[in-house]
Amino acid sequence: MSAGAGVGAGVGASAQVLLRLQVRAIRMLAERTHAFELACPEGTPLPDVNAGAHVDIHLPGGLVRSYSLAGDPRDRSHWLLGVLRETDGRGGSRTLHDGVRVGDVLPVSAPRSAFQLVPGAAHTVLLGGGIGITPLKAMAHELAAQGASFELHHCVRSPRHAAFAAELRATVPAGRLHQHFDGGDPAQGLDIAALLARPAAGTHLYYCGPAGFMQACADASRHWAPGSVHFEHFKPPAALAPATAEGGFEVLLARRGIRVQVEPEQTIVRAIELAGLRVPTSCLSGLCGACKTDYLEGEVEHNDYILSDDERQRCLTLCVSRSRSPLLVLDL
Ligand code: FES
Repeated sequence: MSAGAGVGAGVGASAQVLLRLQVRAIRMLAERTHAFELACPEGTPLPDVNAGAHVDIHLPGGLVRSYSLAGDPRDRSHWLLGVLRETDGRGGSRTLHDGVRVGDVLPVSAPRSAFQLVPGAAHTVLLGGGIGITPLKAMAHELAAQGASFELHHCVRSPRHAAFAAELRATVPAGRLHQHFDGGDPAQGLDIAALLARPAAGTHLYYCGPAGFMQACADASRHWAPGSVHFEHFKPPAALAPATAEGGFEVLLARRGIRVQVEPEQTIVRAIELAGLRVPTSCLSGLCGACKTDYLEGEVEHNDYILSDDERQRCLTLCVSRSRSPLLVLDL
């Protein structure tokens, strides 16, 4: 397998080593949506992944974007992405669709698993909106392989917009796959509140999709047992608190003995970069975990969407977190 170190004077343990993977195939999945298969050029098996994991793809032009792996986690011959071409996005999906061809080699990070199945659930509900089906498809493969009890709901505009429809039919046991077409009006689609109204004991819920869908799922599952609801945003919610709204503070990179001032208008990532160091990043929105870092001292204001309460006791995301204390000591 080809691998190359990250560029620059990097700090942080994650995403330092990049795999160099070849685009093995590109195929149309649905309207404006394509599958991209990535494999080692030498045919070497890829690293193990957990269902729900994502990777950072380093795209032509310097963009780095996170994408969930949609394939069967037990199939190490290739990694599968399902990508919607967004015309009003930040350019990553356009670059992938318009600028990447079969045979191209792309630097790809090791997989990260911020969204993963909890073992031993009595039953699992997978709920995907649009292209948010991608991590849930991987989970469906895993649950099917385990013989676990689960159901999958895919909420989408129309059959033309339903990515991975054939693969899901082949993976999810009969009667457990439910596609809901709303014609573009969520009120005409799945009644999420009704679906989630009465969770049976031991049931876990996983959901991923666009902002309105995420809000509907969050509202409908507030009464579920603590620890039984899991979700992944692929865009920051509209109400994202600005990462740079509060006052300045100082960051100490403990392993290097370097002090960095973070100004009120800066992120910690930017302040560290201005000090001549580089932090692995991807989404810059608190969604992907690429910049997740341990801290040793300080009171952190977490503004991310991925860390659990337990992780927040020791980690922060450098792209959106702030410090409420004058000094924040990082394990860097
Ligand atoms: S870069 Fe994605 S969480 Fe910070």
